[in-house]
Amino acid sequence: MSIRHVVALGGSLLRPEEAEQRETWMARLRQLVVHLEGNGRKLALVVGGGLPAREAIQLAAPMVKDSHRLDEIGIAATRLNATVLQQLLSEIGCDVAPVIPHTIDDAQRLMEEHHVIVMGGTVPGHTTDTVAVRLAGAVQARHCIIATNVSHVYSKDPRHHDDAEALSEITLDQLGEITGVGVPLEPGASAVVDPMAVHAALESGMNLAVLDGRDIGRLDDALEGKPFVGTTITA
Ligand code: UTP
Repeated sequence: MSIRHVVALGGSLLRPEEAEQRETWMARLRQLVVHLEGNGRKLALVVGGGLPAREAIQLAAPMVKDSHRLDEIGIAATRLNATVLQQLLSEIGCDVAPVIPHTIDDAQRLMEEHHVIVMGGTVPGHTTDTVAVRLAGAVQARHCIIATNVSHVYSKDPRHHDDAEALSEITLDQLGEITGVGVPLEPGASAVVDPMAVHAALESGMNLAVLDGRDIGRLDDALEGKPFVGTTITA
């Protein structure tokens, strides 16, 4: 069986503030995917909603009280971002699934047929981190990589605590103490790792790797099983 990788790509990665960095990042991601495909490996990219998700949820929030409805709006944004990457990969001839799967089962099936799949969210009540952890379990990936816009998991929120420490190696239980376990975030709210994803990882015994996906080199190192700059989280 070919090696399977699952990467949760934070939606913010698609839109760095400098417009020209966007093209550079996407070009480097494309190179990495082509390289993996060339080595016969399988890759699932689970893409977050980022700015379009937050904007659309904020637009609806004053008039929509049911959080599952707001989640549905967030899911639509994740699929929009997923389509952007899917089309970028398709354009250069990658063997990427031509549809965006809406369920873990469909994603798993498409991964049998293609080297690359790109998807967003599935159902309300969690974020794409959770989708990625569940898919990683279903396809027996060695770990689930969570590529976000911070360098590490910190001991506490570095935005509010000057003494927050960047952690290189922790256990899932320790991660759960930092993020909480199994409590859904508000629609559009973000955390270094979604507590629902931590719950899913604890359930399936899935190792995680959290790293700064703005630096494709770090993602490449984690995919190659090399030491990487970021946080290794063992089940
Ligand atoms: P994201 O996965 O983008 O949330 O989902 P995030 O962790 O903030 O990720 P970034 O910032 O893009 O990295 C956006 C919203 O979409 C809904 C939730 O409301 C979530 O907050 N969503 C997403 C779901 O309800 N289910 C899903 O499977 C995915």
